[in-house]
Amino acid sequence: MKQTGTEPFLSPDGAEHGRVAAVTGAGSGIGRAAAELLLELDYSVVGVDIDPLAVAWLDDELRGASVAGDVGSEECNREMVEVALERFGALDVLVLNAGVPQVGPFETVKTDEIDRLLRVNLRGVMLGLQWGLPALEGSEDPAVVTVASVSGMGGEPYMSVYAASKGGVINLTRSAAVELGSRGIRVNCVCPGATLTAMTRPALEADPARGVKMSRVVPLKRLGEAHEVAQVIAFLASPASSYVNGAIVPVDGGVTANCGQQLPPEAPVALEVVA
Ligand SMILES: NC(=O)c1ccc[n+]([C@@H]2O[C@H](COP(=O)([O-])OP(=O)(O)OC[C@H]3O[C@@H](n4cnc5c(N)ncnc54)[C@H](O)[C@@H]3O)[C@@H](O)[C@H]2O)c1
Repeated sequence: MKQTGTEPFLSPDGAEHGRVAAVTGAGSGIGRAAAELLLELDYSVVGVDIDPLAVAWLDDELRGASVAGDVGSEECNREMVEVALERFGALDVLVLNAGVPQVGPFETVKTDEIDRLLRVNLRGVMLGLQWGLPALEGSEDPAVVTVASVSGMGGEPYMSVYAASKGGVINLTRSAAVELGSRGIRVNCVCPGATLTAMTRPALEADPARGVKMSRVVPLKRLGEAHEVAQVIAFLASPASSYVNGAIVPVDGGVTANCGQQLPPEAPVALEVVA
């Protein structure tokens, strides 16, 4: 499926608009924040989500379009690319963000849960890359941003399959960066730490003390916000990051910078100077 043109999108008022992005999981959280920011930055945005109601907001945007579907399916990824090309004439950026969580000890993980996690979190990213590739090759400055997690950078208790799927996304990103770099396609990955979205909110609301405990391991002493992750996604999607390829970028308040030591208390410790 070769792209036919890279002309800028003309809105009804005749104004030209710039790059075209497809964002998966654009119905909520980090994906929605990324889609909103890219629209603000003058991108046209195709948002994909399994929840049609959640992603329908994009149809109200002049330079937005929604696709309802499962990123683990070929049809959804084909439609995502077709809508970008038909509506906006190009595909310059892919933000492969859709993901689902999993929590539970090893003994309790069900086979169908393993399949679902890997289907959405890993296969969804692979299919997005495969289907997006021909259209990205028609872009002057193509970029792919995958969304993994700090759970993919190290092991995590009670999140084994999630962590494995995200570790897979990280190495898929690196492989894509190495294989596609010579074709001018940059592929980078953001790894959020615990971020306040629909994925984390129910657990935090059910047990507020949990949020406090989670913040304790963060050097910045708080959880992240979706818009903070979106800013890094937008940078990696833009020509401003033209020499960044294959990077795995934590957006985690410093969690992965720690080698495992206890963090200092919030108030600075006064050092006693012995004369
Ligand atoms: N929130 C966090 O603390 C956190 C931390 C690290 C990584 N992440 C990752 O960030 C990404 C976004 O998570 P979020 O926190 O914004 O979650 P979220 O639940 O707020 O949003 C995820 C969106 O993906 C959609 N989705 C789920 N399965 C899908 C499928 N099969 N096809 C298409 N869309 C699908 C959901 O409907 C939802 O709109 C995920 O990949 C997640 O693993 C989140």
